Order: sequence, then C-alpha cells, then structure tokens
Amino acid sequence: MGRRAPVTAAEASGPAGPDGFHRAWRAGLPTEQVLDEIRELRADDHDYADGTVFNSICSEPLDPARQVFAEHLATNMGDHRIFPSLPRATVLVTRMLGDLLGAPDAGGVPTSGATEANLLAVLAAVRRHTGSGRPRVLLARNAHFSFEKIVALLPVEPVWVPLDDRYRAEPAAYREALADRPALAVLTSGTSECGAVDAIDTLAPHAASLGVPVHVDGATGGFLVPFAGELGHPLPSTGFTTEGVVSVSVDPHKYGGAPIPSGHLLVRDPAWLDPLRSPSHYRGAADHFGLLGTRPGAALLATYAVLRRQGRAGYRADAAEVFRLRELTLELLARAGLRSAFPPELMVVGVACPDPEAVQTAMERRGFVVSVSRRFGFVRLVVHLHQTERQLARLVDELAAAVEEVAR
Ligand SMILES: Cc1ncc(COP(=O)(O)O)c(C=O)c1O
Repeated sequence: MGRRAPVTAAEASGPAGPDGFHRAWRAGLPTEQVLDEIRELRADDHDYADGTVFNSICSEPLDPARQVFAEHLATNMGDHRIFPSLPRATVLVTRMLGDLLGAPDAGGVPTSGATEANLLAVLAAVRRHTGSGRPRVLLARNAHFSFEKIVALLPVEPVWVPLDDRYRAEPAAYREALADRPALAVLTSGTSECGAVDAIDTLAPHAASLGVPVHVDGATGGFLVPFAGELGHPLPSTGFTTEGVVSVSVDPHKYGGAPIPSGHLLVRDPAWLDPLRSPSHYRGAADHFGLLGTRPGAALLATYAVLRRQGRAGYRADAAEVFRLRELTLELLARAGLRSAFPPELMVVGVACPDPEAVQTAMERRGFVVSVSRRFGFVRLVVHLHQTERQLARLVDELAAAVEEVAR
C-alpha cells in the first residue's frame, strides 16, 4: 500500500524481465499462472473495505451486481438482435432512474459514465442548433473536467462563468450569461471536487423563461440530492421537478452501487434524443444513441439488478448513511482541531491546512488515499458507504498527525 505503481516495462514485467514476459506471452500460459500474475499485478491496489480509500466517488458494487455482471458477461449492447433483452432493460432502467429524478416517463440512453452522458447532451445541442456560428454552451468553472474534453471535441464555444465562495455557479453572473441565450446551459448537482450543488431551482426556470435548455450534470448528486431535503439537508433539486431542466446525467456506478461502466443520460422528453440517432449500417439492427458501439450489456443488467434490489427506499437509506458519515467526519475533524475548508453540501469534506499536497504525500506514506483540490487548496475527503465510523476516526487521527508533521 502506498507504493507508486510500476511504470517502466522493466518494472511492470516482473522477475522474468521484459524479454521473459514476451517469451511467455508468445507461448501462452496455464490459467493458474495467469491468475497468479493478476494477483501479483494487483498486489499494491487498495480495497474499498480496508479503510484506506477516502478519495473515491466510486465504491464496491452492491448485491447482486457481481453475480449478474459475471453471469451475463458476453452480452453486447451494440447488438439488439442477438440480445433483445438489452433494449428492454434500457427502457426499465430508464424508468427507474427517471422516477428517481422526478420524470417516470423520461427517455434515456445507457452510457459508459457521465463523461459520455455529458458529451451526448452537448452533442444533442450541437445537432439542434440552427443559428449561424458555433453553438454557445454555458458552463460554470466548477463543471467536471469531462466538459473540457467535450468542448475540445465538439464544435461549440464554451462560455465560462465564475463561482461563488461555496464553489457554486455565481448566480448573478450565470443569469447575465443566460441573457445571451446560449444553445445549452449546464449546471452541476454535486461537483466532484467540492460536492457543490448549483442553484438549479432558480437558474433553470430563469433559463426556461429565455428559451435556453438546461442540462444538469447529476453524476454525483443523482442518488443523493433527491433525498437531501427529506433527510434534513435541503439542497436545490437535481432533476426534472425543476422547470427548464431538459436532460440529466446520472452515474449508477458512483452512489448507485452499480459496477463500472454504468452511466445514463436522461431526457425529460424522449423526442429530445432524436438528434442523437445514428443509424447502423446493418439491416434490422437498431439505431444507436450513445457514442460507443460494442459495449457491455452486463453493466446494464447489473445496474437493472441493483436498482430493483435497492428500490427508492434502499437509496434513501444509503443517502441517509452518507449524510450521517459526513456529519461524523466533520465532528471528528473539529475534535482533532482541524478546520473544514467550507460548509459541505454533499459528500466532499474539505480540510483547510498549510501545504495540502505535502499532507497528501504524508498520508500516502501512512497508506491512505486522500486527494487535494489543487485549484482551491484543501485536502479533499470523499465520504462513501465503504467507510465505517472506526475507519473515519482512524483517518482523522492520521490526518491530524500528517498536518502536524508537515507544519514542523
Ligand atoms: C460531476 C461529475 N461529472 C462527470 C463525471 C465523469 O463521470 P465518469 O467518470 O463516469 O465518466 C464525474 C466523475 O467523477 C463527476 O463527478
């Protein structure tokens, strides 16, 4: 634990060295030996359950995802004729996610994650655009870095809006930028860096009054924010209960307990997906709406299974646990004399300290994975269901020691 991953061919090849590795590859190996090699390859990996992972929005998949994923490994979402189960599962998964987000009749596309879902939302805006010039896409500076990839790939002009002191889209600046009627406005429900939730409840209706469609990146907040109000932590809504929100990205592989790769683009009006339709070249094959061609049906079926198993009630209980663990983390930090960098809205707790990067390194030496917001200068802890009270207490003790060590 805590060692750097080997990066050179010599390091990665193991005791036989690169030549020995190639020789063995050319001949093939017995399964047992391959399995040993995999164990060896993964020897330095952390385990979500071992109490050392405090930077991850993804976690251990919930029951019965592992079983379903393994049983249906060969299914391919790129071929609906061999696997007619998959368009059916798509409809059913879309119905459950749509219901979670306030629109049981929403349309949807399963994706590999929110990067792809966000990309599809922007692509739909590009294809709907009828004006001259590149369509403008309004983004706040807290948008996930997937949008930096997306605006580099698609013919759009990004318009960047600054943040308020809680790392949310600054509402006055956002309104001002909306007045120029961009082709699409993006807001985030649960930024990965700070867990910030933009003022979707006021900004989206304002956008609607100007005819500007709003896409919400709910990759992180999608399974938490719908319950926040009833759990005593009111936050702006993530989904379709707010006027003006036309599409939402949600990631079952984050707080939804589904295995990677599982994302979903939801649209309030299923016709909103039409611009994404890509006809296949083969007779009788279904049109594609996502970016990928061949893709694992097993992930969709496992997502279906987890959603059915959990139900809305199961996700509510999990969200309650995440909020409870977050409050406990704040209490532990305060008791240890550590200062929280901002009042958290969701699952990210920031710890203010001198030289956060040195603290991160000191934590790595102790075997813990925490992260740092480089832009905002704090140690970033992500609260997740794989953590226990005892593990959080140990984390905070070690963090206090690491902060002290760095200050010396
Ligand atoms: C808010 C947000 N949007 C988008 C993404 C990208 O999602 P993925 O890594 O599933 O493509 C993430 C991932 O952390 C995220 O937190």
